[in-house]
Amino acid sequence: MNKIVAASTLILISIATYCRQPDLPSGVELAQVHCTSCHALPQPEELNKDTWRDIVLPRMGQFVGIYDDSGQRSALIANSTNPEKVRAANIYPEEPTLPPPFS
Ligand code: HEC
Repeated sequence: MNKIVAASTLILISIATYCRQPDLPSGVELAQVHCTSCHALPQPEELNKDTWRDIVLPRMGQFVGIYDDSGQRSALIANSTNPEKVRAANIYPEEPTLPPPFS
């Protein structure tokens, strides 16, 4: 009987360990930290899904170091009115400022 209890306990601990997810911040928590460094936190219902996905998030992603391709950051800096100021102010971070899996 003791062996059954011990085996069951071991299995439960294994399942609990396997199922445990790392303590990742939620999307809301990340938005509160990262999106409010420049402006007030927008609410999801302010824009439709297509506008968020196709226009706003790709654009705001650039401000947190997420780009469509490897040359996009350089082009954004080069095409700005004052490239040196934009680079110095780190407007377009070289690396993602969001933790994985969001980066
Ligand atoms: C480094 C500054 C910066 C950060 C960080 C930033 N934004 Fe923005 N956001 C801007 C600027 C500047 C604009 C004005 C439009 C533009 O430049 O594209 C803007 C505009 C917007 C708009 C309005 C778009 C429109 O055309 O109506 C929304 C919505 C938005 N941001 C959401 C977000 C979200 C969500 C995040 C976080 C993922 C975020 N922003 C992070 C600077 C930032």
